[in-house]
Amino acid sequence: MATFPIKRLRRLRYNPVVRDMVRETQISKNDLIYPLFVVPGTNVKKEVRSMPGVYQMSIDVLVEECKEVEQLGIPAIILFGIPEHKDEMGSEAYNPEGIVQRAVREIKKNTSNLLVITDVCMCEYTSHGHCGILDGEKILNDKTVELLAKEALTHVQAGADIVAPSDMMDGRVLAIRKILDENGFIEIPILSYAVKYASGFYGPFRDAAESAPAFGDRRSHQMDIANALEALREAESDIEEGADIIMVKPAGAYLDIIWRVKEKFGMPTAAYQVSGEYSMIKAASKLGWIDEERVMIESLTAIKRAGADMILTYFAKDVAKYLDNKKK
Ligand code: PBG
Repeated sequence: MATFPIKRLRRLRYNPVVRDMVRETQISKNDLIYPLFVVPGTNVKKEVRSMPGVYQMSIDVLVEECKEVEQLGIPAIILFGIPEHKDEMGSEAYNPEGIVQRAVREIKKNTSNLLVITDVCMCEYTSHGHCGILDGEKILNDKTVELLAKEALTHVQAGADIVAPSDMMDGRVLAIRKILDENGFIEIPILSYAVKYASGFYGPFRDAAESAPAFGDRRSHQMDIANALEALREAESDIEEGADIIMVKPAGAYLDIIWRVKEKFGMPTAAYQVSGEYSMIKAASKLGWIDEERVMIESLTAIKRAGADMILTYFAKDVAKYLDNKKK
């Protein structure tokens, strides 16, 4: 192996054209999944307080947004719903006429190729804001799983292309796979939030989805932030239950986990750059402390470099525009 002065690593860094040629990781539009929040009403477009540039939209506005997203070349969205009524059983989650189900139908009618992924969880639909059915203060795993499976089925019946369970109940991937198959939807993939940590980075999302728990937290089902080997067990069990794509969430502070999961299973792997990751970049750039575009691309490139094949990010539209401008 050559050493200095024969070897000079800087040789490939002087010319920007050469730099482009040897770049190992590039963000492309195909990597992007754009999260969207649908609310009741018409003509509603309300900015989320803690997430500048992110809006709650009624179905009519959302449909227009989806057309724009498709036009920008972003392949996929993931949809979150805020229902008109919340109750103890989260019954709007699995209502065939619920907000997400209606939104999916309208989006599908008005776009041609946009991939519609739906988030499957109970926390936006329960009056107590927990991800499942409660017995006292305890979340009942198996009862919740039944309802999640029903929820996923109604999403797919409405036209969802992929379902993404984010609840972290045990056994939900298998239950969803079963109910989809029994109803003839053998070709619909499951993107499971396989490794989801109990993270402080979800703070702003709870403004967007109006899903903050009324008491307690999510530590009885989401993972302890300190654990990595457990992440591999979580991923393994979801793969065994039939998950087609596995997700690690959050992304930026868990690059080691993305890397380990990808190395160990070699599965299509998604990563979620969550609300807090987005809001921190937005806030610091608003204060003039960092260069927003630069840090946006750097954070996403790092997530991809760690092994993510696709990234859920609130920056998706900004990235698509950035890539278009770069081409010109
Ligand atoms: C649960 C869900 C959450 C997020 C995605 N799905 C919130 C939670 O677990 O509390 C967080 C996403 C983000 O912070 O951007 N339905």
